[in-house]
Amino acid sequence: MRSPIPEYLDEVLRTCEGDRAGAVADYVPELAAADAEQLAVAVSAVDGTVYEAGDSRTSFTVQSISKPFTYALALADRGCEAVLAKIGVEPSGEAFNELSLEQGSARPRNPMINVGALTAHTLAGPPGAPREERLERVVSGISAFAGRRLEIDEAVCRSEMETAHRNLAIAHMLRGYEVIEEDAPHVVEDYVRQCSLLVTTRDLALMAATLANGGVQPVTGEQVVSREVVRQVLSVMTTCGMYDAAGDWVTTVGIPAKSGVSGGILGALPGQVGIGVFSPRLDPHGNSVRGVRVCERLSADMGLHLM
Ligand code: DON
Repeated sequence: MRSPIPEYLDEVLRTCEGDRAGAVADYVPELAAADAEQLAVAVSAVDGTVYEAGDSRTSFTVQSISKPFTYALALADRGCEAVLAKIGVEPSGEAFNELSLEQGSARPRNPMINVGALTAHTLAGPPGAPREERLERVVSGISAFAGRRLEIDEAVCRSEMETAHRNLAIAHMLRGYEVIEEDAPHVVEDYVRQCSLLVTTRDLALMAATLANGGVQPVTGEQVVSREVVRQVLSVMTTCGMYDAAGDWVTTVGIPAKSGVSGGILGALPGQVGIGVFSPRLDPHGNSVRGVRVCERLSADMGLHLM
């Protein structure tokens, strides 16, 4: 018998597509050029069966959804203790591009905001590795979660570098506080490359399914990171993944998630499903308006809420 899920997903998108609230991110010129009407959903079971609807094969840059994955690679490469010494796990209550350092220690508050993500980028790969090797570890590591080699959108990367003043300032402060030892502009450039990796909504669902599956990519069978690393990553996603709307998200949708400014949201329910959604218009917190609506529907209809 044919699965009813594709029709169900089509129906969910139809009920959300009329919502034209929000605005496409415009602080990166290339992102402002996105087609605001795009809308997609993909759901992957932990066995790698993917159901998708809408523009689910359209590519967009992963942006901040790369953050939990680079954090996972840092944890895998350096161990939890070493990473915790550099990056905290508490919500910042501030915008993603604030200099949210803990008072006293100067430790970035968490890895889901820029100050923590820039630091996490420097912790991928072996200590002292040249930047090219570190970037390759990040690109191939994030690709392993997707189960295919991801490419960098150099145009988006260049465009973001033209307006990366805040990230450059943050990286220089990190260097000033000796949280990072690397050349600050190089760290920003490579972090922006990481954010410029191209993914589809289907990729997001499979990346999420890898987290939901204890770190094993369901299609390739590769153990990308350990179960302990996944637990740490999903925990931080739960408390810090949706900017300062994390509380709203946990109460309504109730699964670990991460959003990005290009309009993607990734959610993972351990042992069950990985979800990817995409629609470029963002709410004032920076989360995709229609993406949040789609996730609220899925959570309610499929009983995904953890609590
Ligand atoms: O650092 C930036 O501004 C972007 N490249 C990523 C921003 C993003 O998706 C926001 N996330 N928390």
